[in-house]
Amino acid sequence: MRVEETNAAAEYVQGNEDRELRRLMLQAQIYAPLTEAVLRGAGLKPGMRVLDVGCGVGDVSFLAAELVGPTGEVVGVDREARVLSCARRRAETQGLAHVHFQHTSLEALAVGAPFDAIVSRLVLMFQPDPISFVRRMVEHLRPGGVMALHELELAAMGLTHPKLPLFTRIWNWMLPTCERVGIKVHMGLELMSTLRRAGLVVDDGVVGGRVGVTPDSESTQALVETVRTLLPHMERLGVALAMEVDIDTLAARLTAELRSNGGVLVPSLMVGVWGHRPGPV
Ligand SMILES: C[S@@+](CC[C@H](N)C(=O)[O-])C[C@H]1O[C@@H](n2cnc3c(N)ncnc32)[C@H](O)[C@@H]1O
Repeated sequence: MRVEETNAAAEYVQGNEDRELRRLMLQAQIYAPLTEAVLRGAGLKPGMRVLDVGCGVGDVSFLAAELVGPTGEVVGVDREARVLSCARRRAETQGLAHVHFQHTSLEALAVGAPFDAIVSRLVLMFQPDPISFVRRMVEHLRPGGVMALHELELAAMGLTHPKLPLFTRIWNWMLPTCERVGIKVHMGLELMSTLRRAGLVVDDGVVGGRVGVTPDSESTQALVETVRTLLPHMERLGVALAMEVDIDTLAARLTAELRSNGGVLVPSLMVGVWGHRPGPV
């Protein structure tokens, strides 16, 4: 992999334009029930203090806030200032006084009072060294505290039944592009070993995906928005031309393909794993 490609991933390749904020929220809508199950499985409960690493526009923080209740606290951190102003506005609208957002990278976050739980979704896959990243997270976790991670297994992306040519082309554009910009396409299935190698005891894990109920559902839209954000990289890397992707008509063509084949789409597979920090509680 070329250095500039690794850097692109390290800088969070999908950017932070307004459209990107909307894409994150759309994606979050799809993943919410899956992530909630992971947080519940990990044992988040009222009164806990939780750190959400790479919180984006706040969706995982809000799910955690629901579980820890007003006697608990959630701190979301992100290195992008712009996503945080959106997250703060949303917390205010929902009247969530026990959720706070802090503008910092994980690497620059000062170690303070340790958290009872650390959660993170769709962040590790963008890190050049996920094991070191988890080790940094552990520094903020109390002994006995839990860590719950939720990541995509991109290599298993895009299940349709029946197999459909346009969808197949899209996966064939997306997967090599993700790999070449340094995104970890096996992050989901590598979570267990990552946690273990970072010194945590793995407690359990689940795999889940949402089914696109109608052909033009959020799943199709979210897929098109992801292709849109990757398009400049696809072109730069010579994986696909903008002309052949034809992004503005892609949603309509995908919907038509699903509809005319009576097809079903499971756009992505999410893996959730949780474990705890060993040591005296
Ligand atoms: C795909 S978004 C996921 C956002 C959110 N966790 C969610 O699931 O909706 C990844 C986020 O991680 C943030 N991020 C990546 N590396 C980070 C780091 N080293 N420290 C803090 N935030 C980071 C990015 O700025 C981005 O907002």
